[in-house]
Amino acid sequence: MQKFMILILIMFFLYISSVNSDPFPAVPALYVFGDSLFDNGNNNLLPTLAKADFSPYGMNFDGGATGRFTDGKTIPDFIAEFLGLPFSPPYLSMRSSPKLTGLNFASASCGILPETGNYLGKCLNFAEQIDSFNNTIKPELPKHYKTSSEVSDYLSKSLFVIAIGSNDYINNYLDPGLYDTSKHYDPLSFARLLIGNLSLQFQRLYKLGARKVIMFEIGHIGCIPSVTRQFSHSGQCVEDVNQLAVIFNDELATMLKNLTSTLKDSEFILGQGHMLSYDAIINPSNYGLEDSSNPCCITWANGTSACIPGLAPCKDPEKHYFWDGYHLTEAVYKVIGTRCINGTVCVPKNIKDLVQI
Ligand SMILES: *[C@@H]1O[C@H](CO)[C@@H](O)[C@H](O)[C@H]1NC(C)=O
Ligand SMILES: *[C@@H]1O[C@H](CO)[C@@H](O)[C@H](O)[C@H]1NC(C)=O
Ligand SMILES: *[C@@H]1O[C@H](CO)[C@@H](O)[C@H](O)[C@H]1NC(C)=O
Ligand SMILES: *[C@@H]1O[C@H](CO)[C@@H](O)[C@H](O)[C@H]1NC(C)=O
Ligand SMILES: *[C@@H]1O[C@H](CO)[C@@H](O)[C@H](O)[C@H]1NC(C)=O
Repeated sequence: MQKFMILILIMFFLYISSVNSDPFPAVPALYVFGDSLFDNGNNNLLPTLAKADFSPYGMNFDGGATGRFTDGKTIPDFIAEFLGLPFSPPYLSMRSSPKLTGLNFASASCGILPETGNYLGKCLNFAEQIDSFNNTIKPELPKHYKTSSEVSDYLSKSLFVIAIGSNDYINNYLDPGLYDTSKHYDPLSFARLLIGNLSLQFQRLYKLGARKVIMFEIGHIGCIPSVTRQFSHSGQCVEDVNQLAVIFNDELATMLKNLTSTLKDSEFILGQGHMLSYDAIINPSNYGLEDSSNPCCITWANGTSACIPGLAPCKDPEKHYFWDGYHLTEAVYKVIGTRCINGTVCVPKNIKDLVQI
């Protein structure tokens, strides 16, 4: 009798704890789009020079060199951890039907314009990434959800995070030897070309069911070692180049506000990483950093390019701002990511408010 009572009690507590358990995942899925800032292995499987599937990339990541272009986690990884979701796997590594907790379509060296970055090999531009979402996820959903309203509910609660556009400058506009865009467009008209195309792609995402979209600004591309060591004698940031990003970011902010107000129930969030990451370059010690000008790893071409495979990097990547000639360390991605989740980097809402946890 006593044993029976205990059993009843145990079952009662199990029931209570299942009712009260955390409502994770707070968001059904995290879909990731963009370039090398967010790529976590797609380019491993493409014929391209733009790869990060070798050491020292991933030296601080559990899975080692996965294809992430940094020493550790990327911004989408921090967002996934916060949401209680697994890291969204690279779309090209999918062996069977996708899990519906998210997928990563980002592809290093690519951008908004189809020709951007193509001299390095094959990559998936933003429009192709959305095509891939449409071809893989959309047909999968009716197998898991009975009604179309369940499908729309799933998509509208999912988070879509994007970082794209830097390469339309680095691997296109700023490379007049390979691309003639700078002959045909002044900085403002080039930014408008990019933003116009980006807006069309965002409208496609909306048509496909996305409602919560976070797009990050382009960073201070005039401060990356690849630019400072080639175009600035003093090693200081090249402000003309930073200004290109500022023009793009201004147009981006206006475009996202317009989409939010014209597309019903949509929230297009701006990730204002530009000022924050610039501040961290000027005042590294405020962020626990000691070096905000030199890459941590040993790169090709004296600090201006990718890490050389197998060479030991600096001992303290957590105190470095730059990981290689183009990319930032996990330490900086963590600051931007957590302040988008919980702080004021993402506007008009941070992720915590966007997903109402
Ligand atoms: C916009 O992007 C699409 C797909 O990448 C491309 O086909 C189109 O030419 C682009 N438009 C412009 C004006 O570049
Ligand atoms: C998604 O794919 C379907 C089927 O191929 C196509 O009809 C539709 O136009 C695509 N939607 C978008 C937004 O690309
Ligand atoms: C390598 O870059 C550093 C820092 O910009 C510079 O001082 C040095 O002269 C460069 N070395 C060569 C061989 O170009
Ligand atoms: C605002 O967004 C809508 C799509 O929702 C688009 O058709 C329109 O052209 C945009 N307006 C401006 C000024 O960009
Ligand atoms: C959010 O901010 C609060 C206080 O500022 C902090 O205690 C908490 O750990 C933060 N959460 C995340 C996920 O950063």
